[in-house]
Amino acid sequence: MVWWFSWLCLLFFLFTSKLNCSLSSSNSSSPPSRHVCNSDESSALLQFKNSFQVNHSIYGGSEFVYPKKTDFFSPRTDSWAKYEDCCRWSGVTCERVTGHVSGLNLRFSGLQGILHSNSSLFSLGRLKMLDLSFNDFMGSAISSKFGGFVSMTHLRLDYSNFTGKIPSKISQLSKLVSLKLSSGLASYELSSGLVSYGPHEKTTIDPLTMKGIAQNLTSLRVLALNSVDMSSVVPESFLNLSSSLTSLLLFDCNLRGKFPGTLFHLPNLEKLYLYGNTNLTGYTPKSNWSSPLNYLGLSETKISIDLHFLTSSLKSLRALYIRECNFAGSRLHLELSGNLTQLMWLDLSHNSFGGQIPWSLLNLEHLHHLDLSSNMFVGELPEIHGNSTKASSTLHDSSKKQLIGGSIPMGLTVLSLYNNSLSGTIPSWVYSLPSLEILWLDNNEFTGNINDFQSLSLWYLDLSNNKLHGMIPSSIYGLVKLEDLKISSNNLSGVVKFEKFQNLQSLTSLDLSYNHLMDSSMIPSTFPKGNILRNLDLHGNQLEGTLPQSLVNCRKMEVLDLGDNKLNDTFPNWLESLPELQVLILRSNRLYGPIGSPKTRFPFQKLRIIDLSFNQFGGPLPTMYFQKLVAMKDVQDDELKYMGESYYQDTVTVIPAVIGELKSLKGLNFSSNKLKGPIPSAFCNLTNLEWLDISSNMLSGEIPTQLADLTSLAKLNLSGNQLVGPIPSGNQFDTFENDSYSGNWGLCGYPLSKTCINDEAPQPPLFDKQDGDMNGFDWKIVWMGYGCGMVIGLSVGYIVLSIGKVDREVRIMGRKIRSRMAKRAKKTSVGTRKW
Ligand SMILES: *[C@@H]1O[C@H](CO)[C@@H](O)[C@H](O)[C@H]1NC(C)=O
Ligand SMILES: *[C@@H]1O[C@H](CO)[C@@H](O)[C@H](O)[C@H]1NC(C)=O
Ligand SMILES: *[C@@H]1O[C@H](CO)[C@@H](O)[C@H](O)[C@H]1NC(C)=O
Ligand SMILES: *[C@@H]1O[C@H](CO)[C@@H](O)[C@H](O)[C@H]1NC(C)=O
Ligand SMILES: *[C@@H]1O[C@H](CO)[C@@H](O)[C@H](O)[C@H]1NC(C)=O
Ligand SMILES: *[C@@H]1O[C@H](CO)[C@@H](O)[C@H](O)[C@H]1NC(C)=O
Ligand SMILES: *[C@@H]1O[C@H](CO)[C@@H](O)[C@H](O)[C@H]1NC(C)=O
Ligand SMILES: *[C@@H]1O[C@H](CO)[C@@H](O)[C@H](O)[C@H]1NC(C)=O
Ligand SMILES: *[C@@H]1O[C@H](CO)[C@@H](O)[C@H](O)[C@H]1NC(C)=O
Ligand SMILES: *[C@@H]1O[C@H](CO)[C@@H](O)[C@H](O)[C@H]1NC(C)=O
Ligand SMILES: *[C@@H]1O[C@H](CO)[C@@H](O)[C@H](O)[C@H]1NC(C)=O
Ligand SMILES: *[C@@H]1O[C@H](CO)[C@@H](O)[C@H](O)[C@H]1NC(C)=O
Repeated sequence: MVWWFSWLCLLFFLFTSKLNCSLSSSNSSSPPSRHVCNSDESSALLQFKNSFQVNHSIYGGSEFVYPKKTDFFSPRTDSWAKYEDCCRWSGVTCERVTGHVSGLNLRFSGLQGILHSNSSLFSLGRLKMLDLSFNDFMGSAISSKFGGFVSMTHLRLDYSNFTGKIPSKISQLSKLVSLKLSSGLASYELSSGLVSYGPHEKTTIDPLTMKGIAQNLTSLRVLALNSVDMSSVVPESFLNLSSSLTSLLLFDCNLRGKFPGTLFHLPNLEKLYLYGNTNLTGYTPKSNWSSPLNYLGLSETKISIDLHFLTSSLKSLRALYIRECNFAGSRLHLELSGNLTQLMWLDLSHNSFGGQIPWSLLNLEHLHHLDLSSNMFVGELPEIHGNSTKASSTLHDSSKKQLIGGSIPMGLTVLSLYNNSLSGTIPSWVYSLPSLEILWLDNNEFTGNINDFQSLSLWYLDLSNNKLHGMIPSSIYGLVKLEDLKISSNNLSGVVKFEKFQNLQSLTSLDLSYNHLMDSSMIPSTFPKGNILRNLDLHGNQLEGTLPQSLVNCRKMEVLDLGDNKLNDTFPNWLESLPELQVLILRSNRLYGPIGSPKTRFPFQKLRIIDLSFNQFGGPLPTMYFQKLVAMKDVQDDELKYMGESYYQDTVTVIPAVIGELKSLKGLNFSSNKLKGPIPSAFCNLTNLEWLDISSNMLSGEIPTQLADLTSLAKLNLSGNQLVGPIPSGNQFDTFENDSYSGNWGLCGYPLSKTCINDEAPQPPLFDKQDGDMNGFDWKIVWMGYGCGMVIGLSVGYIVLSIGKVDREVRIMGRKIRSRMAKRAKKTSVGTRKW
């Protein structure tokens, strides 16, 4: 979704700044037209306007938008009616002589509503240019009335949430020069995270309509049908496309079959994007490439690409996307045979290229994006010395670190090399790329210290999973644009200086987990007011002391993971006021004392996962909290999707069924605490329970026979307690093995070898029995909790009230987010060029 934004922004940018096919040059401040608009048309326009609401938020948040571009929203209709003469309205263009409305540009205008076929729009019969792209027509069908605009030369209905079939009448618009009907919607969707123009339904096109478009629209220069479902279209139908075609944009179209090689020869073709048609086959030609072709996107297709011929034929290539195209081998330097001096965007990611990266790429002065991630590249990044000499002959020297003469690629904005086996230190030029915005070097074998960053334009920095050591350089605290910083799983040491985070006003995610960071002074750490941090992951470090109360300044915090540290504090119930907090991981610290009762009316409003295991909490179970954890009780599907997909992805491997059926409690983990008393038989009401882990506590008494009624229970861990008496039999209990019970010396019966002495039916335990010791969680209260609120609360809640281990799996969400982001941005870099 993100990359999606990116290209839409780029597109917008290109469209407005460069391509002269932009639909409207209307200018609200232009002098009054001599030709006052026709009153019918004026009222038709107003009627059209009034049939929609204007909704800014359909474009979503600015979560991960690359390139940054937030000024696209332009609610042009707002100003309508300001003048009587509709020719002066924003977005409206009129014919010079007659004053008829000939152009309507409402791109990114926030229109939301159904576009019916009785819309007054269709009475504007003189329209030549119509741009309704990037609105939200809420699944409207594309009316066949669009086919009635006989003078139409430019028609854009793309990314406006249309669904259904593209009407065949479109092919009657024989004057069309530009037709853009790409399917989808311009919204940022948290839940889907990435890609596809279709969390939403795709529009479809049938073979005849496609054929009609190809045959009848003889002036067509631009055809964009991205994300339109073309599964029934045969690629041969494109053969009849006009030879004047300059852009053919067909990504994510479910196109299958063989893409006709002759299309690569179309004499005027400049852009060809076939990205994401994973079943599209064919060959790139060995000769006679369309010479103007300079944007080529063949990523994620099965088109067999002759890189050598491609790069030697397309000398003016500016963008080449061949991500995930099954390339392998270590001859990339030979295959990139051309001079490619114009190259700006190169995506070779997700292949199996090996050997050394052909670093002569760095000598390409226009290089903007370089994405070589997820390959098998080895070796060190070269040092670059001097600015003047051209790429030197060291290109083929794969044995040692290369010293490349020449300038650093000053314009490099995205450098993505993650998931390779690159080693050595990160050379100094990387830190000083003046335009660098995204740097992903994670999942390699880089060593050494992190140097001072001079790339002050950085937004995203990921150095995770390397072998970097030393301290976090203080220059990082000066990267004022930084939004996402990940240096987890390295060997960083030293003190984290949170008070320096004052400057990082754009920071939304900080992941320094799994290092050796200390902060004996987490107390004086100040998280400044108004910060927008959403994810703070310091898991697995050496943090000591108490939790800084200034964490309450992180009003946007969604995930707080301080697990596996040495924090020594009481339960931070002051965190309950964080309105967005969804995940709180404090496991494996030295936290102590009772959890207590909520201090606010709606504590932890959005909390979904809390992990307090491996601490020294005592006192009664915090039933008041349980009853008030509203987010766990009332979870909407879409939120679940969000949570499920972004945060708990890896939990799925542990609890496979959870994601599938979210409405009931599937798992309960209270392990490794100091719970005392008998197992409450109220558990037997948790009929959907699939796993129950209450191991390593101080539970006593017998195992309630009713537990055998939990027929969905697949995993049970009662080990490490002080349980006695016979193990219940029947149903699931016949399947559990010794491990489930180990360390309870008083238990007997199957599967244990110890037989029970008097072989009578076990007595149900008294579940209101108390041992009176208030230092452990008191199961009477537990029972009450479960008997009343909790069963309901948890059974409709998402997963886990995990006062127990959720393990690294949950923690991984940070990683997961990262990798999802990475994926997005990979897409992003594709996306930007895709257009
Ligand atoms: C649009 O307005 C600007 C500034 O008011 C002006 O310079 C420009 O000439 C106008 N363009 C048209 C097409 O009227
Ligand atoms: C704007 O659109 C979004 C996304 O469809 C929707 O959630 C929201 O309710 C809409 N706002 C209004 C005021 O209708
Ligand atoms: C257009 O059609 C829709 C549904 O068919 C109807 O609800 C609406 O009232 C009609 N509008 C006009 C102006 O006729
Ligand atoms: C897009 O259209 C669908 C119906 O096809 C509708 O449910 C949805 O609200 C629309 N808008 C957004 C932002 O998804
Ligand atoms: C081609 O366009 C003409 C009018 O320009 C129209 O009559 C004819 O039906 C169209 N053919 C197709 C296949 O749409
Ligand atoms: C292309 O159009 C011509 C007529 O204009 C027709 O004879 C031919 O069959 C068409 N080819 C394809 C592949 O549709
Ligand atoms: C590609 O083909 C495979 C096997 O025929 C099919 O399962 C898959 O859905 C197809 N993918 C697309 C995007 O059409
Ligand atoms: C390439 O073009 C030349 C002349 O334009 C032609 O003779 C040759 O057959 C073409 N080759 C291919 C493979 O199409
Ligand atoms: C690259 O360009 C240089 C001169 O700019 C030329 O001598 C050389 O032959 C070119 N190489 C290729 C493979 O085209
Ligand atoms: C690179 O060139 C610039 C001017 O073009 C110069 O100021 C700078 O010192 C040069 N750097 C090196 C390392 O030669
Ligand atoms: C926690 O800190 C208190 C006083 O600050 C100290 O007495 C106690 O021993 C510490 N507990 C642990 C487990 O370090
Ligand atoms: C189980 O739930 C039922 C009602 O759903 C309730 O009457 C019963 O008391 C509960 N059993 C226990 C042991 O809490």
